[in-house]
Amino acid sequence: MEKKEIFELVQEYSSPLNYNSKEAAIILAAGHGKRIKSQKSKMLHEIWGEPTVERVYKACVQSNPDINVIFVVGIKAEEVIKTLGKKNNCAFAYQAEQLGTGHAAQIGLEILDKKKFDGAIYIFPGDMGLIDSDTVKLIREEFNNSDLDMLVLTGIFEGDISLNYYGRIVRAKNVDIDGNKCDELAGQVIEIIEYKDILSLPDDKPYIKEFKGKKFLFTKKELLENREFNSGVYAFKSNYLFDLIDKIGNQNAQGEIYITDLIDIFNKNGLKVGATSPKNQYVLLGFNNKSVLAEMEKIARALAYDKLKDIIEIADPEDFFIADEVIDQILELDKKGIPLDIKIGKGVFIGKEVKINYNLELKKNAYANGNIIFGKNVKIWENVHLSCYPNQQFIIGDNVEILWGDIIKGNIIIGDNCRIESSVNMTGSDEHPLRIGKNVHIKGTSYIFGSIIDDDLFIERSVIIKKRVEKITKKNGKIQPIRFYMPMPEGIDAIEDL
Ligand code: UD1
Ligand code: MG
Repeated sequence: MEKKEIFELVQEYSSPLNYNSKEAAIILAAGHGKRIKSQKSKMLHEIWGEPTVERVYKACVQSNPDINVIFVVGIKAEEVIKTLGKKNNCAFAYQAEQLGTGHAAQIGLEILDKKKFDGAIYIFPGDMGLIDSDTVKLIREEFNNSDLDMLVLTGIFEGDISLNYYGRIVRAKNVDIDGNKCDELAGQVIEIIEYKDILSLPDDKPYIKEFKGKKFLFTKKELLENREFNSGVYAFKSNYLFDLIDKIGNQNAQGEIYITDLIDIFNKNGLKVGATSPKNQYVLLGFNNKSVLAEMEKIARALAYDKLKDIIEIADPEDFFIADEVIDQILELDKKGIPLDIKIGKGVFIGKEVKINYNLELKKNAYANGNIIFGKNVKIWENVHLSCYPNQQFIIGDNVEILWGDIIKGNIIIGDNCRIESSVNMTGSDEHPLRIGKNVHIKGTSYIFGSIIDDDLFIERSVIIKKRVEKITKKNGKIQPIRFYMPMPEGIDAIEDL
């Protein structure tokens, strides 16, 4: 896509911002992500079924539904914009060249009208897919209840320090270079130094930094061994951010415009900078490669399991997928105090549109995805596939049982008390929906498409395509069963005996 077309796309997918809201988040999603080694944008790699950048967005709006969000896009912009889609109070900004995180923030900030917006601006990296609304809430509350002008979210690096490539948080010591006590400054955040910039420092000379009239000394080793790292999440008072964002230069090891320079810039302008840490360190994880992404997926699964483990039965905590939206449904239902009796077999997949119900059992590897509405007491056996397109509805009545390996897709209603035996394939389309009445019993190896089947019927090994199947009661009171029904064959002349 040409630049001009991307700018048009940005316009098309951006909504007006809400200037009654005092909060805006800028989500940085323009970077290369080369190390993920994929044709797909790093920002669209999924964690627990959702692209990482969408998860960051959700954490923001779940914490504050009125927040304005600006997505800064660049590499694979078209893909990212179209996946995120048009959202309320959300706009896109296009960073045509990736000149650094500070530059990305500048581009994002241009979207906000500084004459109309006055409040807090938060910045998030789009690859921080485990950040949650509690953490966003913590940052918002800590920032808004303080007298700080800037807040940075930090973590403590655990494990092998030689693998710590994060920017380091540099804090004032309690003695300055001359050995004078500096208790009033001690612990204050002076600046962030990027890992690569520490590496490029000379080995034999200490690093000296002036802060609020005092000089502090750090050895290179000390900086490298500093475990407090920058998560890449910040809060700013908007007026100062607007004033100072263009002061960032690119005099560093990477020749990039670093957003992290703002700490030093804020300090030099006599403003107040602080830091805070989340309750759970995993929320700070961002990924550059596949193995860290897999690690984050594992954490997401463990979190999902933790929420559900005492409410429903999950056969294998390491092997299941239940979308967050469905987890929320389960938690809501549980609040009513009626036991759910839901059983989830190993390898089961439940997509975000699915509506679950009491006493639902999905056995091993059963798959349900799309707008599927389960009745009560439904039992789905192993390897069953149930799905429909987003615009369709697939309704399953109470007490339905669907046996091994069935594939049922599309615009479908299955009435109460139906029993669909194994290896049945059924489809309904928009033009030809499939309607199956109550108490219908379909024996294995049948194929049914776009038909209307009356109540109480028994269908055995039949192929029924676009038919109305009526309930006929015989003289003896029994219902006429449908057995071995086959449409007229076609193409007989193409087939001959060998
Ligand atoms: C950044 C921080 C570092 C911190 C780390 C946390 C800087 C200079 N460094 O480093 O202190 O420890 O994050 O993960 O900020 N992006 C753009 N446009 C650009 C460059 C980046 O949109 O021109 C986006 C990326 O898509 C990503 C985010 O900004 O979502 C962070 O960029 P990245 O290159 O990963 O920064 P780090 O080197 O990890
Ligand atoms: Mg990064």
